[in-house]
Amino acid sequence: MNTNGDYAVRDLTLAGFGRKEIEIAEYEMPGLMAVRKKYGPDKPLKGLKIMGSLHMTIQTAVLIETLADLGADVRWCSCNIFSTQDHAAAAIAERGISVFAWKGETLEEYWDCTLKALTWPDGSGPDQIVDDGGDATLLIHWGVKGEDDDAFLNRAASSEEEAVILNLLKRVKKEDPGKWHKVAAAVRGVSEETTTGVHRLIQMAEKGELLFPAINVNDSVTKSKFDNIYGCRHSLTDGIKRAMDVLLAGKQAVVCGYGDVGKGCAEALKNERARVIVTEIDPICALQACMAGFQVSPVEAALPTADLYVTCTGNSHVITLEHMEKMKDQAIVCNIGHFDNEIEVARLKAVEGIKITEIKGNICPVHKFTFPDGHSIYLLAEGRLVNLGCATGHPNFVMSCSFANQTLAQIIIAKEKLPVGVKRLPKEFDEEVARLHLEKCGAVLTKLTQEQADYIGVPVDGPYKADHYRY
Ligand code: NAD
Ligand code: ADE
Repeated sequence: MNTNGDYAVRDLTLAGFGRKEIEIAEYEMPGLMAVRKKYGPDKPLKGLKIMGSLHMTIQTAVLIETLADLGADVRWCSCNIFSTQDHAAAAIAERGISVFAWKGETLEEYWDCTLKALTWPDGSGPDQIVDDGGDATLLIHWGVKGEDDDAFLNRAASSEEEAVILNLLKRVKKEDPGKWHKVAAAVRGVSEETTTGVHRLIQMAEKGELLFPAINVNDSVTKSKFDNIYGCRHSLTDGIKRAMDVLLAGKQAVVCGYGDVGKGCAEALKNERARVIVTEIDPICALQACMAGFQVSPVEAALPTADLYVTCTGNSHVITLEHMEKMKDQAIVCNIGHFDNEIEVARLKAVEGIKITEIKGNICPVHKFTFPDGHSIYLLAEGRLVNLGCATGHPNFVMSCSFANQTLAQIIIAKEKLPVGVKRLPKEFDEEVARLHLEKCGAVLTKLTQEQADYIGVPVDGPYKADHYRY
């Protein structure tokens, strides 16, 4: 590990390779580069401390350098123990930006990296946060609760990860007792990247527990209807192939959840000529799956025959131990939803007499679990995001849309005094992000005439009122 300066990365000598890939990415990220060109000269983020907890990939490196270009003082960590691309982290560290991330962190290391990214050398916290899944936001909120109430920190943890967080917060409370109240009070706002993180924020806001303003980037159309669908359509099968090198054609694949991510995953598997079954709890999404030509059934119905399972619900306990006990020999199980609790991995590991064989290590985690009855299943990325754990996540172009939205959200947080709550970006921003990507696709817009604009009741140059972006 390289930890000489105010950073911690696997291997600083990978910086040159990282820089070459960042340069390729810049060419494929027109939205982010246009935002740099438009806002860079005015430095709207000048003097602001921005902390990010978001997969430390090549694409994220371009986001980080955009925020820095706009004037921000940036510190970063990843939001997943397996998603860092070490050459991307090295390039960012070499540029002098404080980054704490490497592929294959332990849970203790992961939360320690989050703490370090949240703590500037003078002990202060960030003005603004870019979060993906809500872990940075959670650490601050739990820190505040723990400072107010020892019992919160001393309670019995409900998981291994919760125990790690509580231990870290107990340690911080001893070293710097009022830290989290000061940090929370200084945060101007957070921009949240993903569906699960937005759910967490909304739940906190509904309970009256949210401590600072939040922008829901996920529900910008140019994020969730692009990254979640087309990004996963690309990166799901990338992850599965790198992990198992398996022919998907002819296989029976179960996709749990037919929301945005599920739609992308099911389509990708269908395009590979897999035979896809969808599971859903929502009648509308289930009917959409039927109209797209998929069989809709519960997981239980597929257990005797399915070769591959992918969870993408953002829910928990979707594939249970009891399911895995009944799966066909050599079935492949993976998750592309944000957290690792969609598959009951902890219960699986705890089965008496189960044999766990590591097939590939941290670069592309694959484990074989052999049950006492002799049948085996393969678990990819230890049940964490398979596209980022076993491959490199979504490609540049789609991340350009997501991260252009992130940068615009950060500019709004910097400019406006937002109320505490969760709000979306204005429609104009969505249209701007889309426009910035059209040229690269060779697309030319049709211009409305004034007469047509009056006929449908919209301004000639937008924003357009239509809300027809559903898949
Ligand atoms: P979504 O809300 O659009 O879709 C989730 C779907 O799952 C819904 O249709 C819901 O009805 C269904 N569902 C819920 N519980 C279920 C159950 N028990 N069985 C079957 N279906 C169930 O959410 P989304 O935007 O598709 O995101 C899904 C997850 O993927 C989230 O955790 C999100 O944060 C994550 N995500 C991951 C990536 C990635 O790159 N890996 C990208 C974007 C989002
Ligand atoms: N989420 C999905 N793919 C990603 C990527 N390549 N970089 C950052 N976050 C991501």
